[in-house]
Amino acid sequence: MMDQVLDEEVDLHNSEEESFFQDIDMLQKHGINVADIKKLKTVGICTIRGIQMSTRKTLCNIKGISEAKVDKIKEAVSKIIEPGFLTALEYGEKRKNVFHISTGSQELDKLLGGGVESMAITEAFGEFRTGKTQMAHTFCVTAQLATPKGYAGGKVILIDTENTFRPERLRDIAERFNVDPDAVLDNVLYARAYTSEHQMELLDYVAGKFHEEGGQFKLLIIDSIMALFRVDFTGRGELADRQQKLAQMLSRLQKISEEYNVAIFITNQMTADPGAAMSFQADPKKPIGGHILAHASTTRISLRKGRGEIRIAKIYDSPDLPENETSFAITGGGVADAKE
Ligand SMILES: Nc1ncnc2c1ncn2[C@@H]1O[C@H](COP(=O)(O)OP(=O)(O)O)[C@@H](O)[C@H]1O
Ligand SMILES: [Mg+2]
Repeated sequence: MMDQVLDEEVDLHNSEEESFFQDIDMLQKHGINVADIKKLKTVGICTIRGIQMSTRKTLCNIKGISEAKVDKIKEAVSKIIEPGFLTALEYGEKRKNVFHISTGSQELDKLLGGGVESMAITEAFGEFRTGKTQMAHTFCVTAQLATPKGYAGGKVILIDTENTFRPERLRDIAERFNVDPDAVLDNVLYARAYTSEHQMELLDYVAGKFHEEGGQFKLLIIDSIMALFRVDFTGRGELADRQQKLAQMLSRLQKISEEYNVAIFITNQMTADPGAAMSFQADPKKPIGGHILAHASTTRISLRKGRGEIRIAKIYDSPDLPENETSFAITGGGVADAKE
């Protein structure tokens, strides 16, 4: 039932979204052959903007694509889209496609300016048991709910790096929102990533999926973004390498969010800040991932524990939100408002 409702809404939304991205198949009309287009798709480049967002070097590294071909492709792309500027008015029109997905708590939504935003990366970080994974589970359900503001709802992809995803939790949360649990589970694509490289490879699949089912997916979750990097790269000697790989992943995520107009929610761990003891910082812990992650996340929320099921969320960094904080609760039905 719910499935059907969602499909209809998604169909409606699709027609609006059609103009949102241009399929790379249209390169055929500009003299690029099908085999080469297929090669681009295998690495998750499926749209004209996707090519525009890729450097020549990236394209040259694709098996079977020569430098000469890259030139030809880039030239074809420049004929299809204007390379650069929009007026602020035009950009404003484009930003009208931005939507927000509810956290499950009205107070927390207010703090976030409506929830997690599309065309952006929202990062929640905090210590163990601060509710990051519960938040991710709640989003899997709320992302599917249509809102009075005109958001149609849609499907979700979740990449789990810590083996903490529990489909049964989605059932409890679905029940709280009075939606069919089976339909909800059916709209969440799940993958367990085992290495940071695997995590990156999965993004090719994600981009392919977002393209294939244009406009149906609204949210990508990675819980958590850094866990595998922490295992795969150890010690100071590998730090530069880790940060470089991390930067590539985050750049990919940013592009995917803009290219397909989806929200991206990532969680992150914290570590003791070795400099803190000397600087009398109030909170001697900080999120891992360094400047690379700090710059890539559009909005960062820090989470800490309150009494019982209460948690406190604080805006840590945002281009357009004040540094306020609010409390919320972790309940059987997912993230909710804290009762007074
Ligand atoms: N079904 C549930 N009902 C209520 N609270 C739950 C439920 N499942 C987990 N929690 C609470 O969620 C918290 C763990 O949050 P979690 O999101 O896993 O933390 P993190 O990912 O930040 O380590 C625990 O305090 C736990 O009691
Ligand atoms: Mg967790």
